[in-house]
Amino acid sequence: MKIIGTGSALPKKIVTNDMLSEFLDTSDEWVTARTGINTRHIITTERFEDLATEAAGRAIDASGLCPDDIDFIICSNVSNLYVTPHLSAIIQANLGIKGPNCPTMDVNSACVGFVYGLDLCDALLTTGRARNILLVAAEECTRFCDWNDRNCTVLFGDGAAAVVVTKGDSLIYSKLTSVPMPDVIVYKNPMEPTPYETREGIDTRMPLQMKGREVFRMAVTSASRDISKAVDTAGLSLDDIDHFLLHQANLRINEAIRENLKQPDSKFPTNVQRFGNTSSASIPLLLDEGVREGRIRRGDTMLFSAFGAGFVTGTMILKY
Ligand code: COA
Repeated sequence: MKIIGTGSALPKKIVTNDMLSEFLDTSDEWVTARTGINTRHIITTERFEDLATEAAGRAIDASGLCPDDIDFIICSNVSNLYVTPHLSAIIQANLGIKGPNCPTMDVNSACVGFVYGLDLCDALLTTGRARNILLVAAEECTRFCDWNDRNCTVLFGDGAAAVVVTKGDSLIYSKLTSVPMPDVIVYKNPMEPTPYETREGIDTRMPLQMKGREVFRMAVTSASRDISKAVDTAGLSLDDIDHFLLHQANLRINEAIRENLKQPDSKFPTNVQRFGNTSSASIPLLLDEGVREGRIRRGDTMLFSAFGAGFVTGTMILKY
């Protein structure tokens, strides 16, 4: 596979740490020192599906294709208003792609959804099941936070980013992992008990819960290990990688990974300071920014590394 177009879209509302400390017991000093996050974009008046469609439209424009050339749509998202229909079907409708020969499916592999989706794109292209795939990562993480709880609220932001992928030989290495640890990051949809419900204590409201320290440790250990293994397996050295695009959850996590790898800061673009943790949208947001600003150029070697709830990880090396 190869990526032939990128696009992104962010909600208008920018919220600073000081704005959060007006109603939460937190401070700009604490959030900046512990996470590196200064601001995040939060959905207010926009509709989430419109944001996702905007990112998708920009990626299709950049690819030089038109919407009807797309014959598969995959959308990565952790949580959105629509349980059904799935977001990729809504994006298809918004883009005016009539079908029926454009299957749509959503992927939820938490913050690793973009890398999981891209791996799936490669499988679909390699087996001839699709020719031009639209992969969108769209997240409104701020909707599942409890806005009275400072633990999670300060970490997340909303955003969407997309790529168009077609047949090519960019992919050098891809490895997905999953280790069952269902309680480190958990969010359950609110459910109303039925009249026949016999279970005690069904959750009607359970905001995001996270074992922050554990996630921090696992993220640094697994990403450092996965990245070293990726370059070794691919017969490369860390110096051969031009851009390390890491999932943006916390600047300190990324800094610890970078120090483990002993690579220069300039190879690790970041956006968590401005966008917070946008879950699976964070890597394609970095990619789109890098491409549009001319920092990521055709022929550059990129490494994607992500980790998230599950506990899942994904690592990919590819030429842009
Ligand atoms: N504002 C101000 N103070 C806060 C706070 C907040 N938002 N959250 C916690 N605190 C306080 C705690 O009450 C505690 O106070 P105490 O020392 O008086 O008891 C102190 O800050 C330290 O809390 P702790 O939870 O140990 O902080 P930490 O250094 O582990 O940082 C995280 C917390 C969440 C920032 C950090 O663990 C983290 O980033 N983990 C990874 C989470 C993540 O990336 N998840 C997504 C993965 S995809």
